[in-house]
Amino acid sequence: MQTRITHLLGIRYPIIQAGMSWASSNSALPIAVSNAGGLGVIAAGPMRIEELHRSLAEIILGTSKPWGINVPLHNERSAEFLDAAFEARAPVLIASQGGPKEQLARFHSIGTRWLHVVTSLEHAKKAEAAGVDALVAVGVEAGGHPAPSEVSTLVLVRKLARECRLPIVASGGVADGAGVAALLALGADAVELGTVFIATPEANVHENYKRAVLAAGIDGSTLVARGRLPIRQLKNSFSAKYEAAERAGMPADELGAIFNSASLKQAALDGDVDWGKVEAGQSAGLVDEIRPAAEVMRRLVLELEAARYRLASL
Ligand SMILES: Cc1cc2nc3c(=O)[nH]c(=O)nc-3n(C[C@H](O)[C@H](O)[C@H](O)COP(=O)(O)O)c2cc1C
Repeated sequence: MQTRITHLLGIRYPIIQAGMSWASSNSALPIAVSNAGGLGVIAAGPMRIEELHRSLAEIILGTSKPWGINVPLHNERSAEFLDAAFEARAPVLIASQGGPKEQLARFHSIGTRWLHVVTSLEHAKKAEAAGVDALVAVGVEAGGHPAPSEVSTLVLVRKLARECRLPIVASGGVADGAGVAALLALGADAVELGTVFIATPEANVHENYKRAVLAAGIDGSTLVARGRLPIRQLKNSFSAKYEAAERAGMPADELGAIFNSASLKQAALDGDVDWGKVEAGQSAGLVDEIRPAAEVMRRLVLELEAARYRLASL
């Protein structure tokens, strides 16, 4: 199956493993996905710089296939991350939370493909005008930082497919090959999956986190800090406390203090899935087993094929 994204990135399947802070802040997960024909992506966000350099070296040794690095541009250490990506000659850079203009020419000069995360038509138009190579359209179903507008992947992808000329990677709400097929049918050129890759031995999170993803139903996640910069995480004591405070009309600074009292690290590293921020998407409700990342890829491809045949036979 060839799409504008498989051509652009040189990958076999139109499937991208999402950059996920902690979960893919290692080399094992991106290597496994890239070797299986998708695009593996390392998430720089929480990494110490020497750790990032080491993991990038491992990826270069571990796969001859294209791979990517996710850099949140608003991060205070983004300049360091970008330098590391540049030194490693990253084949693909997935930038989120910031403007691409300053860095784009530098990365294009070494052949890096720059994919830009957007959550609205307005962002997409800006990124397109700045000269990025493709858009990653993230809907409200997504784990992590989804669309603050709360527009679904289904509608956002369709809108961007109508209004933008760049290739589109759809992100949020997909955990199997039928979902990949659905978003390709909508006009996406590839699909990015995060939560399903948390449920792999290669994901860099505590076992409690993986078990929490398996246990979650399709209504098991919630948007915390709606109307600000919301995160989608699994419902737990922390999200209940925040939401109760919100309902009680607590002032913004006190809400902010509650928000900052919990972290993703607490859940991912320490395994505190009750009081930490267990970021995961609605798609957690579609994930019921821990499988090696290569096996996840194999199943995605088989299910995608099955969905295509099913549609063709209708
Ligand atoms: C645990 C977790 C951490 C994430 N961290 C990041 C991040 O560091 N940078 C980023 O651009 N997106 C991040 N995301 C969002 C993903 O890149 C992607 O948009 C999302 O996982 C897609 O939705 P899905 O989980 O339903 O597949 C994160 C998502 C999760 C679940």
